Amino acid sequence: MQLRLKERLGRKFDEEIRFFKGWMDGPKQVGAICPTSSVTAKRMASVVDTTSGLPVLELGPGTGVITKAILAHGVTPENLVSVEYSTEFFQNLTRSYPGVNFINGDAFDLGKTLGAWKDKTFDSVVSAIPLLSFPMEQRIALIDDLLDRIPAGRPVMQITYGPISPVIARPDRYKIKHYDFVMRNIPPAQLWTYTRA
Ligand SMILES: C[S@@+](CC[C@H](N)C(=O)[O-])C[C@H]1O[C@@H](n2cnc3c(N)ncnc32)[C@H](O)[C@@H]1O
Repeated sequence: MQLRLKERLGRKFDEEIRFFKGWMDGPKQVGAICPTSSVTAKRMASVVDTTSGLPVLELGPGTGVITKAILAHGVTPENLVSVEYSTEFFQNLTRSYPGVNFINGDAFDLGKTLGAWKDKTFDSVVSAIPLLSFPMEQRIALIDDLLDRIPAGRPVMQITYGPISPVIARPDRYKIKHYDFVMRNIPPAQLWTYTRA
């Protein structure tokens, strides 16, 4: 087997072990059984407008598959702010993606978690927070908070595994769009975007 292929398979295996350990520590918080596929991550990162010059906010990076796709899409590490609740995932992320502004904290308390970034306008939000593990009121409050941090019309991109939007319709507060259904993900993933009406 070629050395490069061996290295890649080794890295993928490491990622899966790390993900599984995270899942064992907090299945509700991790909310998925496998890392996001690179195909899904690429689709999610595709909504970022790299010409806006604004930083990008990522939530729940886990093993960093989506972080990697956001960087590959053209966002510089310094322009990416990424909030991860698990300290173990956070420590691995800071080692794997130098220069990215990782924050070990709670996405549901961004006023506190974002620190110096709290008053910044972001271009968009890319989120893998397992919303279905949280009460609906908390989900709505999160989407509302995120939309206040990006320009009108720009999206919050959210991955989920259920058949419907993980956040109920509130046409007075935001617009919901089904963005994609990605079969090449375990389990198949649904992508939703939320924008200010
Ligand atoms: C479905 S996993 C993300 C998978 C990731 N895309 C990957 O491939 O590794 C959800 C992630 O959200 C994180 N998370 C859960 N609740 C959170 C919170 N309140 N704030 C920040 N991160 C949170 C979990 O620790 C986990 O890393």
